[in-house]
Amino acid sequence: MDTEDLNSALALVRGARRIEVFTGAGMSAESGLETYRDERTGVWSTVDPRAMASISAWARDPEPMWAWYRWRAGIAARAEPNAGHRALAHWADRADLHITTQNIDDLHERAGSVDVTHLHGSLFDYRCTICSKPWRDDGNYPAEPVPGFAPPACPLCENPVRPGVVWFGENLPQREWEMAEDGMGEADLVLIIGTSGVVQPAASLPEIAHAAGTPILEISPARTQLSRLASFSWRATAAGALPALVVGLGV
Ligand code: APR
Repeated sequence: MDTEDLNSALALVRGARRIEVFTGAGMSAESGLETYRDERTGVWSTVDPRAMASISAWARDPEPMWAWYRWRAGIAARAEPNAGHRALAHWADRADLHITTQNIDDLHERAGSVDVTHLHGSLFDYRCTICSKPWRDDGNYPAEPVPGFAPPACPLCENPVRPGVVWFGENLPQREWEMAEDGMGEADLVLIIGTSGVVQPAASLPEIAHAAGTPILEISPARTQLSRLASFSWRATAAGALPALVVGLGV
């Protein structure tokens, strides 16, 4: 851990009272979950998002998407929160810290974070495609990727049950969006962790804090589309930087 970088980060975060944390897939990378756009390893390097993460593909044939999301839910369920997730949960016990995540895993919650807003939904929420009746996840996940299998039928209207995630071409959930906007507007410190900042409208959120002159600390091993907004862009990983930050803060 580069001491100079750590001290630059600490200088930015010390004394913060209302912390807004904006996370992306990089937050869960050290838990073994793939990011979307990292070279070679990103999800979209082997899967076409138009075929597997769009409402039009679901309408054409839900079976391949259903199988893929159930397989991904099983991977996420078997993953463990990493030291970065745990450090944020620990910090939240001692400060007013809200997390807005683009991630659809539940690792922030399983690390103990309670004030978490999911902008893109969750792998563990399901509802009827048509009447939106919730469907309880039965925890039966395929151990291997399979080409496709039929989603369950809604017990109320018999239409297919769908994953509660936001697909390309769909709007973000209004309540969660407003909570994220409020978080960015009210914070006296913003952390951006593990996101390339390429997907809108989520990536526009830190602009709210930047426009208000709020200090922004970015934690990412590579430069991102949001690095330009950062007061300090720390070339580090979530599980490496966050525990060091929390220890350095003495919280
Ligand atoms: N710690 C911190 N950051 C990391 C780590 C790590 N260990 N490993 C990788 N990263 C960084 C990468 O450098 C990259 O900048 O995390 C970022 C991941 O970017 P993406 O793969 O684009 O993921 P994300 O920004 O969350 O994607 C946003 O795109 O496909 C949609 O809905 C999907 O929510 C997702 C959205």
